[in-house]
Amino acid sequence: MKSEEKNETVKKDQSNFLRNWYVWIISMIGLSSLFLLVTFWCTNIFQDTILSSLIIQKGTTSFDFWERPPVKLIYKFYIFNYTNVEDFESGKANKLRVQQLGPYIYRETKKRVNVQIHENGTISYQEEKSYQWESGNPENEMVVVPNIPLLAAISYFRNLHITAKLLLNLGLSTLNIKTFLNLTVSDFLWGYDDNLYNILKAFSSLQDPLPYERFGILVGSNGISKDRITINTGFNDMNYLGIIEKINGKSIQNIWGDEKCDKIYGTDGSMFPPKWINNYSTPLYIYVKELCKPLSFHFHEYSNVHGIPSLRYKMSMDSLKISSTDSCFCPKTVGHNTSERKCPPTGTFNVSACNSGLPILISFPNFYGADQSLIESIDGLKPNETLHESFLDLHQFLALPMNGSSKMQLNIEVRRAIGMPYTGKMKDGMILPIMWYDNTLDILPQKFINIFFDAHFVITIIERAFRWGSVLVFLSCICALSIKVRNHCIHRHLPLCENVSVGNKLIEG
Ligand SMILES: *[C@@H]1O[C@H](CO)[C@@H](O)[C@H](O)[C@H]1NC(C)=O
Ligand SMILES: *[C@@H]1O[C@H](CO)[C@@H](O)[C@H](O)[C@H]1NC(C)=O
Ligand SMILES: *[C@@H]1O[C@H](CO)[C@@H](O)[C@H](O)[C@H]1NC(C)=O
Ligand SMILES: *[C@@H]1O[C@H](CO)[C@@H](O)[C@H](O)[C@H]1NC(C)=O
Ligand SMILES: *[C@@H]1O[C@H](CO)[C@@H](O)[C@H](O)[C@H]1NC(C)=O
Ligand SMILES: *[C@@H]1O[C@H](CO)[C@@H](O)[C@H](O)[C@H]1NC(C)=O
Ligand SMILES: *[C@@H]1O[C@H](CO)[C@@H](O)[C@H](O)[C@H]1NC(C)=O
Ligand SMILES: *[C@@H]1O[C@H](CO)[C@@H](O)[C@H](O)[C@H]1NC(C)=O
Ligand SMILES: *[C@@H]1O[C@H](CO)[C@@H](O)[C@H](O)[C@H]1NC(C)=O
Repeated sequence: MKSEEKNETVKKDQSNFLRNWYVWIISMIGLSSLFLLVTFWCTNIFQDTILSSLIIQKGTTSFDFWERPPVKLIYKFYIFNYTNVEDFESGKANKLRVQQLGPYIYRETKKRVNVQIHENGTISYQEEKSYQWESGNPENEMVVVPNIPLLAAISYFRNLHITAKLLLNLGLSTLNIKTFLNLTVSDFLWGYDDNLYNILKAFSSLQDPLPYERFGILVGSNGISKDRITINTGFNDMNYLGIIEKINGKSIQNIWGDEKCDKIYGTDGSMFPPKWINNYSTPLYIYVKELCKPLSFHFHEYSNVHGIPSLRYKMSMDSLKISSTDSCFCPKTVGHNTSERKCPPTGTFNVSACNSGLPILISFPNFYGADQSLIESIDGLKPNETLHESFLDLHQFLALPMNGSSKMQLNIEVRRAIGMPYTGKMKDGMILPIMWYDNTLDILPQKFINIFFDAHFVITIIERAFRWGSVLVFLSCICALSIKVRNHCIHRHLPLCENVSVGNKLIEG
């Protein structure tokens, strides 16, 4: 009888306990906080939701920013003026000497036009660029620079039969052609009338027409580019955001004669898949179509832009060094053995194959990081890490560039041809620096600074608040419940609570 009575009270007590609204509410709060805890600690749902605003989708702000980028690029051009050509030709000087002039600063306005959105999460467009002069005196300053059309023509014609070369020579001799030209900076950059170029244009019009009226380093940069680019919008998978899928419908170019090197990989540098910056050992890739090559950037240090923390990535020196793994970037030699390749000197990258055979090599400014013999072959070059290195400061969360500078130097290779005297005393294979540019992001408008600021601080604060808040609430609920249970047990000495009491006794004693 007695034990039955006791059982009754136990049951009654238990049901009372469970019916207690207080316990229910605490349990509900505890469960919700557990849910938030799991969401914020174990999944990326919060971040992914924010990041999804980067997806290039019609009708969004990020689409408008993408189509008409409000932050402009600033181009600073530095030109090498050859100051001792006469002395060198007459033998008084044994090395050519250059004087670096500039910067001549232009601001680039870029638009993405003829935009076509595809259903599979890609988007195709062409770029329209224009340049406005900002500073420097390019109209009036004269520079003495290598005659690029001439050096290109010689390199092109040097494999012709000797009689063809003699005829060509005869034609050229009527033109009063010089190896070095005296031009204004502005003409050199944006185009000048050149007799030789006009003749080459007439010659080439049959098979592979030269595309521009006049010759200049940047002729053709203005206006709508021919290339149609297809990039991933990130709609299907954020891990591919901004990655270039195709250029002119091809995902593999036909330049280097090797599938690995011909593959188009990387973004255009205006954005990166946020996943790329989660792991600092993952390099960033920017595909540069003018080089037919992706350039890689490696994480270097934490930095900040306008007080907003950023990740500083630096262009790796390997970008222009050919390691044995990517020797496919060395052009194939012309000859009977088609698998033989010739690598250019260390620190230069041969873009001849990518630029319809022009003997052009790319390097870092002033041959920074290049073979010492290159630096010493010309007087007046002073490679300097701080001045000549390229970097990118990315937002720690959005992976968007907030500051950056990419620097490249254009060089021309001198090829001598028997029977063509124009190269004077210059040796065959000599590499002449022409100019370099520093391409930086303009100062961010306040609107963007605010967006970046919010994206860092507000989001971090919200996330931390939710992370630690959910832990705190969850622990409090557990405590509240266990205190409740404990009080309950102490008052009733219930067998159900024995273990709890034992536990408590252990703690107390
Ligand atoms: C470039 O070099 C030439 C030859 O030494 C000189 O006459 C000219 O003034 C230099 N240009 C500038 C802008 O200094
Ligand atoms: C996406 O669709 C476009 C147009 O239909 C097509 O050119 C492209 O190859 C497709 N891309 C992929 C990755 O399937
Ligand atoms: C270049 O041209 C300017 C003006 O025509 C002249 O003053 C200068 O001496 C020339 N420099 C050279 C190196 O020929
Ligand atoms: C980061 O990337 C490197 C190289 O890609 C890889 O070896 C490493 O396992 C990655 N680390 C993490 C934590 O994913
Ligand atoms: C961007 O980088 C340049 C070059 O290092 C630096 O001079 C400039 O102060 C940076 N801009 C900001 C806003 O940090
Ligand atoms: C061609 O060159 C490659 C690499 O240098 C070499 O392995 C191969 O034997 C050469 N083939 C012939 C036919 O000479
Ligand atoms: C660059 O490549 C071209 C072929 O594309 C080749 O003729 C030239 O010799 C190479 N130049 C150097 C410096 O390797
Ligand atoms: C590199 O340039 C910076 C800035 O002009 C200068 O302070 C530094 O001394 C230079 N370093 C070398 C090794 O010339
Ligand atoms: C108390 O714990 C012991 C062992 O730790 C177990 O055998 C016993 O069943 C528990 N009692 C209750 C009421 O849960």
